[in-house]
Amino acid sequence: MTTQDDLRPILTTESGAPVADNQNTETAGVGGPALIQDQLLFEKLAHFNRERIPERVVHARGAGAYGTFTVTADVTAYTRAAFLSEVGKQTETFLRFSTVAGNLGAADAVRDPRGFALKFYTEEGNYDLVGNNTPVFFIKDAIKFPDFIHTQKRDPYTGSQEADNVWDFWGLSPESTHQVTWLFGDRGIPATYRHMNGYGSHTYQWQNEAGEYFWVKYHFKTDQGIRNLTQSEANRLAGEDPDSHQRDLREAIERGEFPRWTVQVQIMPAADAAEYRFNPFDLTKVWPHADYPPIEIGTLELNRNPDNIFAEVEQSVFSPAHFVPGIGPSPDKMLQGRLFAYADAHRYRVGINADHLPVNRPHATEARTNSRDGHLYDGRHGRQKNYEPNTFGGPAQTGRPLWSAVPVAGATGNHVAPSHAEDDDFGQAGALYRLMSADEQQRLIAGLAGFIAKVSADRDDIVERAVENFRTADADYGRRLDEAVRELRKQR
Ligand code: HEM
Repeated sequence: MTTQDDLRPILTTESGAPVADNQNTETAGVGGPALIQDQLLFEKLAHFNRERIPERVVHARGAGAYGTFTVTADVTAYTRAAFLSEVGKQTETFLRFSTVAGNLGAADAVRDPRGFALKFYTEEGNYDLVGNNTPVFFIKDAIKFPDFIHTQKRDPYTGSQEADNVWDFWGLSPESTHQVTWLFGDRGIPATYRHMNGYGSHTYQWQNEAGEYFWVKYHFKTDQGIRNLTQSEANRLAGEDPDSHQRDLREAIERGEFPRWTVQVQIMPAADAAEYRFNPFDLTKVWPHADYPPIEIGTLELNRNPDNIFAEVEQSVFSPAHFVPGIGPSPDKMLQGRLFAYADAHRYRVGINADHLPVNRPHATEARTNSRDGHLYDGRHGRQKNYEPNTFGGPAQTGRPLWSAVPVAGATGNHVAPSHAEDDDFGQAGALYRLMSADEQQRLIAGLAGFIAKVSADRDDIVERAVENFRTADADYGRRLDEAVRELRKQR
């Protein structure tokens, strides 16, 4: 009689040899020490020791899904990107959501921006749009990013995030006032990854077939509606279900409830940039919709869960430098820094052949480079020549840049970014505060005050500088915050 056990395939070692015993280590006699000849034991223990790769230095905690982007408007007047060339055209995508500061095992329901990293597998190569759920950011120059993140992560001595460090940095970086107001507002703790918007955040370049170029900002508006958690709801959920966002996304897709976003762009003709009232490349500012109304261009739907989280989510890599013809960078100094940082992180975290992995490689075309070898190279190029130019029919350059050259003037130097007529670090923060309902303002003040009050008792100077930024944004905002912080610090 054939039993269930007879139907099972045979367990093997990594080299494919049948395993006789997967329960008992081979020993010298009954009860004796283990033998070196038990290679299965060593192979299992050694592989297990090497299961982890370095987690992302930021955005370590995340979840992802595949999906489809569909074009809904003719944008050929603005970009020659092939995946945007026709209404109805569909492109496969992979989207990884994340939180920023927490480590890989951190809870999802926390007050923190959410990452919104989107890969379009286009026929002209992969286009990565690595954004957040916030239209702005804390700083505007990449050179400050490592310092900023050090204040969000664990203190070298205490090993915990410290209010002293966070507020010291923010107090000394007034350009953060807008994003901090956003973060402590109601949208600071999304209920799920499905119930929040995504933003490209930076300004990018689009170039049309005629070679004209435009500055664009991307918005992904959730079709599920915005839903947020209050601080106390989040505190409870983070304890009870640390994987809340990840589980919600996977289960929604399993149920066939595919989350969708309406994709919009704001488009600024290149000629407007120099005289626009704000520096259009300043990541701490939005472009008011009255100036450049968002235009709907497509829909994004997530409809397939990854089968293997490590292979497809942990090893997924996104780079703001992954452009396709018709799309390029702007001179935003944050973006310029990011164009370097991501691929460098991938080389360290996943390895030099990270772009060859199934989730990362182009799906609608193939990569044709003369780069070769390195750790875990799979030999994909076979006998092909590995240099260029060659007379063996190897791949050739097109001679056509992906995006337009941008005129520049002046001497090299560590310049402050150009300031436009209405540029300051506080105007849009104050406007955001005044836009909030009375209830939201109350929650904003309570949240900020609760965190600022945690600054060490002997560092009132840090508190003062922090509050002063909000006071400059709006007098009422600053007065109420000051009162709330003083009250809480009295009670300590
Ligand atoms: C100069 C500023 C910045 C630098 C140097 C920087 C650097 C990094 C690095 C090194 C990673 C880890 C990449 C990896 O290991 O695969 C990362 C992840 C990420 N960053 Fe940034 N970042 C910056 C600003 C921003 C901004 C402004 C945004 C959003 C608008 C953003 C969104 C993200 C997202 C979504 C991820 C996660 C990507 C993924 O899911 O794999 N970052 N960043």
